[in-house]
Amino acid sequence: MFARSRIRCMGCSREYGDREILYTCPSCGSLLEVIIDPPKVTLEAFQGRPLGVWKYAEFLPLEDGMELVSLDEGGTPLYPCDRLAKWTGVRKLFIKYEGANPTGSFKDRGMTLGVTKAKSLGSKAVACASTGNTSASLSAYAARAGLTCYVILPSGKVAMGKLAQALMHGAKVISVKGNFDEALKLVMELSTKMGIYLLNSINPWRLEGQKTLAFELVDQLGHVPELVAVPMGNCGNISAIWKGFGEFADAGLIPRKPRMYGIQAEGAAPVINMLRKGLESLEKVVNPETVATAIRIGNPVNWPKAVRAIRESGGLYDSVTDNEIIEAQRLIAYAEGIGVEPASAASVAGVRKAVSEGVIPKDSEVVCVCTGHLLKDPEEVISVCGRPVEIPPDLRAVSEMLMRTP
Ligand code: F0G
Repeated sequence: MFARSRIRCMGCSREYGDREILYTCPSCGSLLEVIIDPPKVTLEAFQGRPLGVWKYAEFLPLEDGMELVSLDEGGTPLYPCDRLAKWTGVRKLFIKYEGANPTGSFKDRGMTLGVTKAKSLGSKAVACASTGNTSASLSAYAARAGLTCYVILPSGKVAMGKLAQALMHGAKVISVKGNFDEALKLVMELSTKMGIYLLNSINPWRLEGQKTLAFELVDQLGHVPELVAVPMGNCGNISAIWKGFGEFADAGLIPRKPRMYGIQAEGAAPVINMLRKGLESLEKVVNPETVATAIRIGNPVNWPKAVRAIRESGGLYDSVTDNEIIEAQRLIAYAEGIGVEPASAASVAGVRKAVSEGVIPKDSEVVCVCTGHLLKDPEEVISVCGRPVEIPPDLRAVSEMLMRTP
């Protein structure tokens, strides 16, 4: 019931078999992508199956009899958010809440596929560099599969919740005194040299799991959304979601595709800078900086795929400041009851900015992908909200305090 697949180079179109371990094209060095033949299915085929990554097995590139490594990922809520719609100025706004995944971020969609693939290829160890969520997810799925997991993190810049997950799931965690881009370069060299299976988003199999977010949106809305806003870091997710819509369209299941809106943090916005300047290649940001540490990336490896998604979809792109991110994060939390980490809030902040500049029409229906859970970064919360006041445990003091608090 799984799709037959092969790997194709984005640059020279050369094709490779589905059991070759490759991260870039051996011939020209470009990014690789998984190609599946569009399955002959109707939407009815999916009815009655639980919402989640594996609901869409016909679109997933695996072989029958494979042992799936799963923690029941995907199937995340799509919340209608009327107060946020009002705040941003659009007619309808939905949050696709990826914080509800097993390890609290969208990465789980990719890791169920990626670690299943690693296992079927006979790998004994997996590795990644990470701003935090990839490492939290990979370490959990590696534990589930019984594989050794190596994680390389930029020292001092990984949120505490994410680090806690990687440590407790038993990954071998190494902090390097450098940023994510340097950590990724290192782990790519190491994995090739030591035969460890690499599960950063440069691995095209991982993105196959992440594309299911598009399928779920069609399922949950009952139609194709007009605009999907996605925070961009290493640029895998927006590419994967766009691929998902493309495959549903190729299979004749949807009549059109949405516009994709890619958003970066102002201090880490190489793709936005490139598009603004009309360049055809990326100018790295050497010292990326943002409160949204998940997307603190200056040299995103998947930029060609993200640029293609934005251009092909007739989409939008912009950057938002740390203040705009924090303002949106707070509003999502207290106006809608949805707790997200800073990077996730960039999608909502980006929509507000685009509406105020007249780039998104006010009668639009928008889906904001909120990629990670609030609890991932408790230190940011305390720095933004402050600590609660401490008083003696007596009734008068507590009553006085309550009267004073607005
Ligand atoms: N939001 C969150 C919460 C993330 O953790 C990431 C990426 C993104 C958005 C951006 O997604 O890289 O596919 O464009 N985090 C990676 C990590 C880089 O290592 O956890 P992307």
